[in-house]
Amino acid sequence: MILIASDAAIAQAAHALREGELVGLPTETVYGLAANATDDAAVTKIFVAKGRPADHPLIVHVASASQVPVFAAQVPDFAQALIDAFWPGPLTLILPRQSGVATASAGGQDSIGLRCPSHPVAQALLHACATLGVHGVSAPSANRFGRVSPTTAAHVQSELGPELLILDGGDCDVGIESTIIDCTRGEPVMLRPGHITRVQIEAACGRVVLDQNALSQAAPRASGTLESHYAPRAKVRLMSAADIAHKLHALGPHSNNLGVWSVVRPQPEDVGGAGVLWRAQPQDAEKAAHKLFSVLRELDAQGVQQIWVELPPDTPDWEGVRDRLQRSAV
Ligand code: TXA
Ligand code: MG
Repeated sequence: MILIASDAAIAQAAHALREGELVGLPTETVYGLAANATDDAAVTKIFVAKGRPADHPLIVHVASASQVPVFAAQVPDFAQALIDAFWPGPLTLILPRQSGVATASAGGQDSIGLRCPSHPVAQALLHACATLGVHGVSAPSANRFGRVSPTTAAHVQSELGPELLILDGGDCDVGIESTIIDCTRGEPVMLRPGHITRVQIEAACGRVVLDQNALSQAAPRASGTLESHYAPRAKVRLMSAADIAHKLHALGPHSNNLGVWSVVRPQPEDVGGAGVLWRAQPQDAEKAAHKLFSVLRELDAQGVQQIWVELPPDTPDWEGVRDRLQRSAV
């Protein structure tokens, strides 16, 4: 059931969360599938609904930084600088967990992922929850495990069915999931790139951001960091613009059931087959992130067999989009 996120609908959703139910929640990044973070039985329903392994930890969403001590045992100075700079906003911090709190949500880790979303509906819901004694809401992206994250209420319903209460807060602005920084290893470590870039993180906290694979210690599990993720049904192939033109030309009249997401529309003389669906790829990284998942979903729904994507430049502002594309193409 999709409800426009009125005050009444937000109050209804807050009560449902307190009662241990799941709610589809808009955030500025993607839609989440929410449950009371400290109710292990409710959190277990998330894992079941998504088909997600129970040892993959979830992000706990809080109304404000004042709720951090409920979940985190300690906040390093550089993490506090990131909170001050970017919350509310699309940044998740992994912090040492308060023992005994949100155990199911943490998937067995002794750390906890915390994020304070900026979307007004998420903010209103989290504040309403706090007044009911629910101080954090676990919410992974509201898609079936391994699939494309939802950026509209209708996407959530198509993933998880008509029974789920979904608050409709419109299209997600950012379009890809939050940047995740692990703050449990003495230095900031990038677990997942996103809208908030490495350059911004380094400027805000005055530290160099390390890469996960540069560290020898075993890393915590993170679904968004699995090699294959965010996959539509169609096969995604990443190529240069020149390769796309070349291969379309080579296919000629056989180029059917094909989606193309590239900056420049393929020339008519290169597209011999009738079944090539072209969608314009923005040249701006933030605009491309906003479109990415909905384009993959829409082309999938059109029944194409393959989606050819022009690989964007290897520059810091494109890191989040390139990461999602690379995983969707495995
Ligand atoms: O933008 C977002 O972060 C969205 C919206 C709904 O807020 N949420 C989201 O959640 O992307 P999810 O569960 O799809 O991705 C959460 C990522 C996973 O890769 C998870 O494993 C990682 O965060 N994560 C959560 N807690 C962690 C922890 N304690 N240690 C390491 N990774 C953790
Ligand atoms: Mg996800």
